[in-house]
Amino acid sequence: MNHLIAPSLLAADFSRLGDEVQRVLDAGADVIHFDVMDNHYVPNLSFGPVVLDSLKSRFEDTPFDVHLMVKPVESMIDAFSKSGASYISVHPEATEHPDAALKRIRSGGAKAGVVINPGTSLSVLDSLWGEFDLVLIMSVNPGFGGQKFIERSVSKVAQASEMIKSRDFDVRLEVDGGVSVQNIGSLSKAGADMFVAGSSIFGTDDYGRAIREMRSAIEARV
Ligand code: DX5
Ligand code: ZN
Repeated sequence: MNHLIAPSLLAADFSRLGDEVQRVLDAGADVIHFDVMDNHYVPNLSFGPVVLDSLKSRFEDTPFDVHLMVKPVESMIDAFSKSGASYISVHPEATEHPDAALKRIRSGGAKAGVVINPGTSLSVLDSLWGEFDLVLIMSVNPGFGGQKFIERSVSKVAQASEMIKSRDFDVRLEVDGGVSVQNIGSLSKAGADMFVAGSSIFGTDDYGRAIREMRSAIEARV
């Protein structure tokens, strides 16, 4: 599977959000990661569907990867499907019915993702195979950008990759939190193929260079 770089808008300058999206697309981003927080499932607030509506009206063909850190998830799945999200991922802890939530995402037209927190076992996937298109491994605890990468996430990615390979499903493996040019090679080697990066792109003054360096490290797998 081709490797996708997904800059996280949480680290962008909100006073000129649309221009930040344009800049990061010009810099070579494949997908825009869109972190939705509700001050309930996580102790922070970000943005909601009206912001995506507005961005989609300017960036109609750009795929948006919506990471829902909200509880309950159901009404937000519907709202973001309507806004035109390409991927919608949910934390299984945030819903009484993960299986139904994934079906709801797919029936709304987006690809469905399951997010695994640092403290959550991959066994949560056991009863959901066939219902998702994406596994998102959190390499920080969700809620804030700019946190330190949790090193043992690399072996969790490797374990998830083995689980995916041993089954006959077309599933992407995404990693989110503290991803940088320093660890992206080992994450790629472990089997990740979609990389969320907030501060390590938006925190630099040359987004193009940051993304190019990440792609080289992914290819070199070191
Ligand atoms: C954290 C979010 C991440 C975050 C990543 O809860 O899910 O997507 O924005 O930001 P960095 O790359 O700065 O850790
Ligand atoms: Zn995220």
